[in-house]
Amino acid sequence: MTPLHQLINRVLTQSHGWLGFDRFMALALYAPNLGYYSARTQPIGLMASSGSDFVTAPQMSPYFSRALARSVQEALLETQTDEVWEFGAGTAQMAYEILSTLGDAIKRYVIVEVSSHLRDVQAQQLEPFKDKVVWLDQLPEHFSGVVVGNEVLDAMPVKLIQRSSGTWYEMGVGSASLSNSEPSQLDLEWVKKETMLRPPVEISGEHDYLTEIHPQGEAFIKTLADRLQRGAVFLIDYGFPENEYYHEQRSSGTLMCHQGHLADANPLVAVGQKDITAHVNFTGIALSAQDAGMTVLGYTTQAHFLINSGLLDLLEDASQAERAMAQKLITEHEMGELFKVLALGVGVRPEWEPLGFQLGDRSHTL
Ligand SMILES: C[S@@+](CC[C@H](N)C(=O)[O-])C[C@H]1O[C@@H](n2cnc3c(N)ncnc32)[C@H](O)[C@@H]1O
Repeated sequence: MTPLHQLINRVLTQSHGWLGFDRFMALALYAPNLGYYSARTQPIGLMASSGSDFVTAPQMSPYFSRALARSVQEALLETQTDEVWEFGAGTAQMAYEILSTLGDAIKRYVIVEVSSHLRDVQAQQLEPFKDKVVWLDQLPEHFSGVVVGNEVLDAMPVKLIQRSSGTWYEMGVGSASLSNSEPSQLDLEWVKKETMLRPPVEISGEHDYLTEIHPQGEAFIKTLADRLQRGAVFLIDYGFPENEYYHEQRSSGTLMCHQGHLADANPLVAVGQKDITAHVNFTGIALSAQDAGMTVLGYTTQAHFLINSGLLDLLEDASQAERAMAQKLITEHEMGELFKVLALGVGVRPEWEPLGFQLGDRSHTL
């Protein structure tokens, strides 16, 4: 039993033997000093041999962040702001490239990071920009600037719900060994409870169906909208609009774990040693943003966004190897199609059409 496992067992006991999956996921990933993101020394990297579990676009190629920087630059000008705010900066590769590319256009780069361990990694990486970079645990009451977040929404805890023989249940976690006063291992099992929770759209058919809903991600967007006075937001992640997310054939949901660059679907084993993620329902995020007063500025695939932001020009001087890595960002069967970019705005001109969405905007599919 690791200290994280002991903590989960304690919380389970206090919660009468049942934890909703979202609470379990929050503990497994973010329990202070113990959860996966708080304690794992190197979650993100190119290869398993570096000890990492998965790779993200900024890690794969610096051209991802350089192209994004062009859109950020346009948004800073449009919103007349000079701060960039990044959520969940990981190893800070993206921050490094944005700061290097935009120079004096950025007066302050604020990182909101829940993992104290990753903050140390970020501080090292951003040493050349230490006068501009600050870290916050949470958002202040009011701020203005351009907000970026790559693969942050997918790391937010989700609720799991299941239709089984026509009845909806919330999936949670229990433990067979809780009655044992000194359990020797974390022995988790799925326990379901009948629920009033439902997916945001009716699921056609009568078949059994497992899916996720995202109250935490949507609450995050609402808080962001309440506090951002003037600015633009770029959220990049894997996911779909709700009609695809809740398609009747997607009957096993999108929950996934990553360890050593291998994916599996069982979050109840190796708890704390692997990432747990779910795809993003971009319709839910866009609606939450609109309900809270933000404007949807654009929604498109990562490939369209990067190409519209000038990726191909940037690659003109790149080496063959650099081009090969950058290609993965836009190729349909790699990251180009599954990953999307959603842009939101507050206090921007209604006629502004951000650079990244000029060709291939799919806002109408949300
Ligand atoms: C999958 S990693 C992505 C890291 C980085 N953006 C990248 O692309 O390499 C998810 C990141 O989101 C952070 N995170 C999750 N929830 C967050 C929240 N509510 N506020 C800020 N960061 C959060 C995690 O700590 C982690 O750094």
